[in-house]
Amino acid sequence: MANHTAVPARRLEGRTAIITGAGSGIGRASVERFLAEGANVVAVDIDGAAAEATVAAADAGERAVAVTVDVTDAAAVQRSVDLALERFGSLDVYYNNAGLPQVAALVEDVDDETWRRAIDVNLTAIFLAARIVVPIMKRQASGVILVTASMSGIRPRPQLCAYTAAKGGAVVLARQLAIELAEFGIRVNSVNPVSTDTPMLSQFGSGDHTTAKATPIGRLGRADEIAAAAAFLASDDASFITGSALQVDGGRGI
Ligand SMILES: NC(=O)c1ccc[n+]([C@@H]2O[C@H](COP(=O)([O-])OP(=O)(O)OC[C@H]3O[C@@H](n4cnc5c(N)ncnc54)[C@H](O)[C@@H]3O)[C@@H](O)[C@H]2O)c1
Repeated sequence: MANHTAVPARRLEGRTAIITGAGSGIGRASVERFLAEGANVVAVDIDGAAAEATVAAADAGERAVAVTVDVTDAAAVQRSVDLALERFGSLDVYYNNAGLPQVAALVEDVDDETWRRAIDVNLTAIFLAARIVVPIMKRQASGVILVTASMSGIRPRPQLCAYTAAKGGAVVLARQLAIELAEFGIRVNSVNPVSTDTPMLSQFGSGDHTTAKATPIGRLGRADEIAAAAAFLASDDASFITGSALQVDGGRGI
């Protein structure tokens, strides 16, 4: 079995993508994958040094740029969109991938701040970004919005109420945007990973859901497998797919 998904073609040649959470894990793998498929990429992260490191490692010259953005800050998101337009001339894909885990806790032990921040980063940020990018995509009469939600938003797990509620909201918001924007040539889909081998995983606690037992296939997901699904949904290979909640989950959703 290959350790890395093969890159079949340069399906994103000339397209410009903003990818959030680009400094680590799935975001970092997505920057690599989108660049390999020919895209220009604005790599966004609240940790600007991590985003810079992703871009430096990708070694894609002028086609990649890093920017420090907290996705809950609409003014900062606007600056990243302006940068994409100035530098590359269009915005074809906005990939809402940044996310915040929740340390496993019983509902009665979850404080207000944990709840609010989980909703802000994992859900409200998608709305804030849509409000900015949709008018641009409508003018272009094309665009793709992607969301990394989670299988936990489709099949919730115990002790993750803030995270699963936010991710469930993210799945539905993607579907809602899809139905609202289809007539404008804008497709919206979510990618739903199961436990994936990234730095985030250990922050969910230490139950079976963070081990190979999480999936019928019997292993954790890999960041490049999620990135491959996102690249597919971003490309014209998915031209008739909108409003889907793609499960990239080793069978957990069965
Ligand atoms: N790893 C998993 O098991 C798993 C499973 C299902 C879904 N997901 C989702 O996948 C996405 C990527 O997670 P990952 O596993 O690669 O995690 P990760 O921790 O490796 O990377 C997340 C990145 O998001 C950035 N980030 C966090 N808050 C931000 C903010 N407010 N603004 C901008 N950037 C911010 C972090 O700095 C980090 O670089 C998340 O939405 C996560 O919820 C992960």
